[in-house]
Amino acid sequence: MDRIRIVGGAPLNGRIPISGAKNAALPLMIASLLTAETLTLENVPRLADVILLKRILGNHGAEVTVEGKRPSQDPFAGDTVRLTAGEIVDTTAPYDLVSKMRASFWVIGPLLARMGEAKVSLPGGCAIGTRPVDFFLTGLASLGASIEIEAGYVIAKAPAGGLVGGRVVFPKVSVGATHTVLMAAALARGETVIENAAREPEIVDLADCLVKMGAEIEGAGTSEIRVQGVSSLHAARHRVLPDRIETGTYAIAVAMAGGDVLLEGARYDLLESAFDVLVEAGAEVSTTNEGVRVARNGHGIGPVRVTTAPFPGFPTDLQAQLMALTAKAKGTSSITETIFENRFMHVQELARLGARIHLDGDTATIEGVEKLTGAPVMATDLRASVSLVIAGLAAEGETVVNRVYHLDRGFERLEAKLSQCGATIERVSD
Ligand code: EPZ
Repeated sequence: MDRIRIVGGAPLNGRIPISGAKNAALPLMIASLLTAETLTLENVPRLADVILLKRILGNHGAEVTVEGKRPSQDPFAGDTVRLTAGEIVDTTAPYDLVSKMRASFWVIGPLLARMGEAKVSLPGGCAIGTRPVDFFLTGLASLGASIEIEAGYVIAKAPAGGLVGGRVVFPKVSVGATHTVLMAAALARGETVIENAAREPEIVDLADCLVKMGAEIEGAGTSEIRVQGVSSLHAARHRVLPDRIETGTYAIAVAMAGGDVLLEGARYDLLESAFDVLVEAGAEVSTTNEGVRVARNGHGIGPVRVTTAPFPGFPTDLQAQLMALTAKAKGTSSITETIFENRFMHVQELARLGARIHLDGDTATIEGVEKLTGAPVMATDLRASVSLVIAGLAAEGETVVNRVYHLDRGFERLEAKLSQCGATIERVSD
């Protein structure tokens, strides 16, 4: 199993190209199930989650091809992926595929809208009714679907004549439920209004792509989205927006290690809340026509108080990385996690490097220490893993991050991107 070995202490200087957003690429690829024609996506990142989703979509009958990169091309450039779901051969998404990636549950929206039925494994975790997919199911039911749960599967059926537009009110903001209902509503008869919709930039990216495919959507990016259903969608070409979480992760890495890096292709407007926090902590952030520049020279890191929130708030997907940064701040920081209960698996691992973190319910109090010391640590999930890399960049000596497959789900060529800016980081295979 691969590991990442880091020797801390070097500042980061240079350029880091930002890849296409994983959390936009996944729903965009799933949207290909809505049409028999070809959806061409540019700037798709090379990630384990993308590869897994290609298999899942292939299982439903989609042909997925990747345009080869020319040798002269930038090695960091994203892929162009063509997806053609000419015929849906199977409306079942089995447990062994869905359990590996929660987002694959979202195929339920397009399958139901196009084929009138879908049988999709519950993604696992807690029983239905609490956390997992209740908003998806009530949302689809508001479009006329009948829903049954049987042997770990959701069996959804549209009424004769297909889904019908309706009013969907989410009790809490959910990115996945918004993506799913938006895709389903695109092919439902009549108008759908989604209230308390997620406003994340990835929702806007999906809506933009659906509009290119012929959908009629207004209000994406606000909490009320209106969709006028159409009878079919068609071929389109769309470029995946830059990854704001990858952007924020490298921005935090620069704040942590010191130095001056241009995050090429990054968009400031996708991440204002996090950049504000970094400025408060003592980093310099500026926009250029090539991306966003982040620097920290001379002075130390200041403490911050942050609460995660849906967009445009501080993203939960940067919470672990920020915690690594505050571990070395001059003073005491506090971070409150409001999106996911128990998204604090990194706390114990950061403590192994010398971080002083006290957890009380949904709030972590971080007492900054003068120095962190390298140690072997265990990656537990995607963002937690990268927080350990960030801590390792500023720790004295060697840090080895085990279970790197978590990182490969969401960070393309992490070692290459950091080492070209001067970090001592390498992948070690057994
Ligand atoms: C998306 O997950 C992202 N995943 C997550 O990124 C991200 O952390 C999350 O949004 C929040 O921003 C992708 O885009 C692929 P939610 P999602 O539905 O859609 C509760 C990463 O590291 N809820 O917005 O699964 C839920 O429990 C990942 O890249 C219900 O109660 O998240 C949570 O508390 C991890 N019932 C809250 O809503 C439901 O039916 C928000 O979850 C659905 C959600």
